[in-house]
Amino acid sequence: MCGIVGYIGHRPAVPILLNGLKRLEYRGYDSAGVAVLRNGQIEVRRKAGKLRVLIEEVARNPLEGMVGIAHTRWATHGEPIDRNAHPHVNPHRTLAVVHNGIVENFLALREELESEGVTFASDTDTEVIVHLIDRHMQAGRSLVEAAREALRMLKGSNAIVVLSAQEPDKLITARLGNAGGIVIGHGEDGEMFVASDLPAILEHTRRVTFLEPGQMAVVTREGAQVFTLEGEPVAVEITTVPWDITAAEKGPYKHFMLKEIFEQPRALMDTIAGRVDFRTGEIAFSTLPLTSEQARSISKIHMTACGTAYHTTLVGKVLVERLARIPVETMIASEFRYADPIVDESMVVLAVSQSGETADTLAAMHEGKQKGATLWSIVNVIGSQAMRIADGYISMQVGPEISVASTKAYTAPLVDLYMLAVQLGFLRGRITPEERLELVEHLQYVPGWVEQVLSRAEAIHQVAFKYRHMRHCFYLGRGINMATAYEGALKLKEISYIHAEGYPAGEMKHGPIALLDEDMPVIAVIPQDPWYEKMLSQVEQAKSRGAPVIAVATEGDERIADLADEVFWIPKVPWMLSPVVAIVPLQLFAYYIAAELGLDVDQPRNLAKSVTVE
Ligand code: F6R
Repeated sequence: MCGIVGYIGHRPAVPILLNGLKRLEYRGYDSAGVAVLRNGQIEVRRKAGKLRVLIEEVARNPLEGMVGIAHTRWATHGEPIDRNAHPHVNPHRTLAVVHNGIVENFLALREELESEGVTFASDTDTEVIVHLIDRHMQAGRSLVEAAREALRMLKGSNAIVVLSAQEPDKLITARLGNAGGIVIGHGEDGEMFVASDLPAILEHTRRVTFLEPGQMAVVTREGAQVFTLEGEPVAVEITTVPWDITAAEKGPYKHFMLKEIFEQPRALMDTIAGRVDFRTGEIAFSTLPLTSEQARSISKIHMTACGTAYHTTLVGKVLVERLARIPVETMIASEFRYADPIVDESMVVLAVSQSGETADTLAAMHEGKQKGATLWSIVNVIGSQAMRIADGYISMQVGPEISVASTKAYTAPLVDLYMLAVQLGFLRGRITPEERLELVEHLQYVPGWVEQVLSRAEAIHQVAFKYRHMRHCFYLGRGINMATAYEGALKLKEISYIHAEGYPAGEMKHGPIALLDEDMPVIAVIPQDPWYEKMLSQVEQAKSRGAPVIAVATEGDERIADLADEVFWIPKVPWMLSPVVAIVPLQLFAYYIAAELGLDVDQPRNLAKSVTVE
C-alpha cells in the first residue's frame, strides 16, 4: 500500500521522512519519493524500485530542508517508473502532493484541466490534485482555501498531504473516506508529523490525532487545526498512544473486528494497487506471472481452503468459470486431503488462506503437489508456508488481521480472484482487451462502494440491536451470492454464538423450509444479480410463513422495500463484484450483535486465529 510521511520542524526533514518510509515498507510498494522545501523552492527526488534506490539517489544528490513530505507508491494509474512516483509537483515547483487512494473522477478532471492548457507530467491520478490546487491558488486563493476547493472536487476515498513554497510554514492534509488514514503526530519543541500509519511516527511522538473521513487539517510547527471539508472547525482530539503497539493499532475502535471491517476500503485499494492499470486494463501479479500458453494449458483448477477462506473459493469458481471457461472444483481442505481427488499435471491447486499456516490447507496443497499439480496460493501472511510451498502466489495486501473473525481477509481475496479470473480469461482469448478494460475499470469503484455501506453502519447497528436476542436464523443466497449467505452466517455464529445457517435459497423447499416461522428470521442476500428473481420468490415464501426478513438489497429496489422487514442497502454494482460489497453489512450486523451482547468479539470462545493442528 502507498505510505505517507510528512514533517515540519527544526531538524533536517529528509532522514526523518526516509526513516518513516522504512517503517511503512511492510505494506509493499513499487516506487518512492521525497520532497522538501528550502529557500522558497521545492526539491524532489523520486525513484522506481525499493526504498534503498531512493536513499542512494538522495545520497548522490542531497536534499536539505526542515519541511517535507515523502511517499511509497503502489501503481494504479501508470506504471511504476520514476515520473509516476510521488510527490507530484506543479510546473513551477511551488506545490507538491503525496496521495493514497484512487481519484475516481480522474479522467474527467484531467480532460477538463488539459482543455484549459495544463500539461501533465505523469500518468497518475494524483497529478490532477496538484493542478487543481495550483489553479485555485493562481486565482488568488490561500493554500487552505485552494486545497479545500480542490478536495471537494475529488470523488473516491483518498488521503493527501500538500506542501507549498508560497506558504512554507504549513502542511495541509486531508482524509476523504476510509481508503487511506491520516494520523497527525504532535512532537515536542515545534515539531509536527503526518503519516498514513502510526508506525511511521511512533519513534518521535505518541501524542496523535486521527483524522476522520471528510476532515482536513492545517499542520504548523505550533500544532494542528482540523476542519470539515466545508470549512467548519473541529475540536482537535489528542490521543496518547500506549506503548503496546498492538493496542495502539486499535486506534479509536472498540474491537479489532470493527477496525478491520472499516479498513476494507483501504485493504481493497491495496489489493488493486500495483496489479492493475486502469488506463490500459493490464493486470499483473508479480509473484504469479502467467503466459498465455500456461493459461491455455490449464485443464482444471481445484480451489481449496477452510472456513471463511473456503467461501471465497465459491465466488472464485463462478468468476473463473464465467470469465475464463476453466472448470473449477472447490473442496473444503480437510476433505480434499482425504478424498483422493483426481488431480494431474495439467491442473492447478489453488489454496486460499489468511494465515498461510492452516494445517488442513497445507495438507491439501501437499496432496496436490504429490499428484503433480501446479500449486498457487492467495495468502496474507508474508513468508508463511502456503506462500513458500506454492509455485506462484498472490499476497492479500490487507495488513495484519488480528480479530479471529476474518473480514478484510475475506473481501480482498474476492478481488484477487476477480483479477485472476479476468486475466486468465484474457490470456485464454475468452476476453478481448476492450472487455478486460471494462472489467478492470469497475475495480476502481470497489473501495468507494464498500465505503458507502460503511457510512450506513449506524442503521445496521439499530437492526442488530433489535435482533440481538434471536436464537436461530437462516442466511439465504443464490449463485455468486450463495457464498455471501454462508459467510454472513459464519460471522454471526462464531462471534455471537447464535445458531445461524447459511443455505442455498433454492434448496429450502427440499426440507429446511419446515423450520420457518415467526421465530426464525431470514437474512436474504438479494442484490441485482442474475439470480435476483429467483431469490425474490424465496423471500416471498419466507414472508408467507411468517418469518421476519432482513434483506441485503440494491438501492432503489422497491419490491424488496415493500417485502422485507428490514433492508441493508448496498449501491448498484456489477454482479461479479457484488459479493465484495454485499458481505459488508452482514459483517457489521454480526459485529454489532456480539458487541451488544457484551461478548469477547475479537477472541471468541473455542477459536484460534490460526488453526495449525488437524
Ligand atoms: C472465520 C475464520 C476462519 C478461517 C479459517 C481458515 O472468521 O477466520 O474460518 O477463515 O480458519 O483460516 P486461514 O485463512 O488462515 O487458512
